[in-house]
Amino acid sequence: MASSSPTPLLLGLLLVLLASARAASVSLPALPLSTASRWVVGADGRRVKLVCANWASHLEPVAAEGLSRRGVGDIAARVAAMGFNCVRLTWPTYLATNATLSSLPLRWSLERLGLRESAAGVRVNNPDLLDLPLIDVFREVVSALASNSIMVILDNQMTTPGWCCSRTDGNGFFGDKYFDPEEWLKGLSAMATMFRDTKNVVGMSLRNELRGPYQNVSLWYRYMQQGAEAVHAANPNVLVILSGLDFDNSLSFLSPKQVKLSFTGKLVFEQHWYGFSDGTDWENWNQNDACGVAVESIRTKGLFLLQQGWPLFFSEIGFDMSGTHIADNRYLTCFLSVAAEMDLDWAVWALEGSYYIREGILAYDETYGLLTWDWYTARNPSFIERINSLQSPFQGPGLPSSHKPYKVIFHPLTGLCVLVESANVLKLGPCDESNAWNYTSAYELVLKHTGQCLEAKSVGDTAKLGAGCSKSCSKWQLISDSGMHVSAELTKNGTRVCLEAGPDGVITTDECKCLTEDPTCDPESQWFKVISSSRGIPGDSSVLQLPSLGPWPPTSSSSR
Ligand SMILES: *[C@@H]1O[C@H](CO)[C@@H](O)[C@H](O)[C@H]1NC(C)=O
Ligand SMILES: *[C@@H]1O[C@H](CO)[C@@H](O)[C@H](O)[C@H]1NC(C)=O
Ligand SMILES: *[C@@H]1O[C@H](CO)[C@@H](O)[C@H](O)[C@H]1NC(C)=O
Ligand SMILES: *[C@@H]1O[C@H](CO)[C@@H](O)[C@H](O)[C@H]1NC(C)=O
Repeated sequence: MASSSPTPLLLGLLLVLLASARAASVSLPALPLSTASRWVVGADGRRVKLVCANWASHLEPVAAEGLSRRGVGDIAARVAAMGFNCVRLTWPTYLATNATLSSLPLRWSLERLGLRESAAGVRVNNPDLLDLPLIDVFREVVSALASNSIMVILDNQMTTPGWCCSRTDGNGFFGDKYFDPEEWLKGLSAMATMFRDTKNVVGMSLRNELRGPYQNVSLWYRYMQQGAEAVHAANPNVLVILSGLDFDNSLSFLSPKQVKLSFTGKLVFEQHWYGFSDGTDWENWNQNDACGVAVESIRTKGLFLLQQGWPLFFSEIGFDMSGTHIADNRYLTCFLSVAAEMDLDWAVWALEGSYYIREGILAYDETYGLLTWDWYTARNPSFIERINSLQSPFQGPGLPSSHKPYKVIFHPLTGLCVLVESANVLKLGPCDESNAWNYTSAYELVLKHTGQCLEAKSVGDTAKLGAGCSKSCSKWQLISDSGMHVSAELTKNGTRVCLEAGPDGVITTDECKCLTEDPTCDPESQWFKVISSSRGIPGDSSVLQLPSLGPWPPTSSSSR
């Protein structure tokens, strides 16, 4: 409300308050998890949507980042406060296979790298962890996450501790200098065994971003199947998560040939998608074209698995949180539209606001970090608000609603949905409060239970509800390459207009903008996704009572 920006201290306090509020209300789902067609489900059969933050614990110190900045419990509480239900916690194989390393006290691990200041920070913020062996520090992190009802996916990021990933780091593919398949299998078994009785460890990512000159599809099947069996034999509770080739950008080789495993109901695939995965398209192309092409590419590389009935986890998405990186901003809105439409399971790279040391740089600032450099608060609070509606399921088994799926009109730029305030005013608001729409085969957007249709009246006017659905002004086509311009023709003179969300959230119909060509034009205020939801409609009983063509809103709530 205030026009001056809140101080970091206030934001921090707010986050802590939110943390306690959420911690009280959120609990772990019914565990263990398994899969039902493309969905991850709890032991009660209900969908569990994985919405995770990646937390690095695989760099040279072999400790979760940030322990020198905040208490481990505080960090876990911040994960929950930002609405995430899960952490993808990374580890290097050596943590499980090299006893000299895993038994090294955290203090020594930091000091041997010259990180005295970090050691001093751990002494202040996590005194109990300072002299624990690295493997116990890892366990304490998992346990702090459990205390905050956060699920954990263990991710084997590298063999040797250090920043990942390059083609030539010797960690890229089976047979690389540091990637001995036998040692990897031993490491997977050891970790799966260690966490067998730790309920909140719900999955294991077998190996991050396979890559490099030696990658080979037939070896992928051989070793990934062996890895999956090794993990399952040691811990049948966890989801077994398989990464693709080319830095986990591609799983297309699975389209004709699936993996063969001795068990069912635990297999998940993972795919990564960053703005830089798409080269310079985001800067140089019209944004609709770039999004259309990128999504098509993502579809052939991995999204097709959802259609084939396999869960696909977007285990790394990320962008520069400063908001100044144009290409990343464009990519992000495109990703969020897909995340909403396909109701994806996903994970942000990364939780950490900074690293002890990364690529030789002390106290490296993670510009992709959810948290600030000092780990105190959210780096980009508006992003946290924007993803709120994507942090719980729209679809999937066992949602509380007994309703048939309906449509909501999602606006990726804000993360909000189109709500009906009155017949003449539609406005963005929380998707949980969305009305139920039907998008018919005749391209009408019909407000369910009323039969009223969305109509375009004139250029620059508000979008309205009307009774007659057969007019051209109520036929809404998706016209740009992104498929996100929702457009109709005015009855009076055939002018094509598009839905547009103004800065105040009011929905108008305006000249369609940025449809093609212009690479500098920003179409995002006109980007909408008509997506399926079965969340349940708030106040549904009153909606049901509306006379089908009567006034909107009803003058008295007790009408009928
Ligand atoms: C095990 O870790 C220690 C400590 O980092 C290192 O000195 C040693 O070379 C490692 N051993 C192997 C076999 O990699
Ligand atoms: C992949 O590995 C298999 C088994 O070692 C080998 O026969 C095949 O030639 C390799 N393929 C390529 C493209 O390197
Ligand atoms: C949506 O509208 C179509 C056409 O009017 C109708 O056949 C269909 O049953 C409706 N769908 C739902 C879920 O109400
Ligand atoms: C159609 O009508 C709108 C006013 O609603 C006007 O802005 C637009 O210029 C007209 N288009 C044509 C082609 O006459």
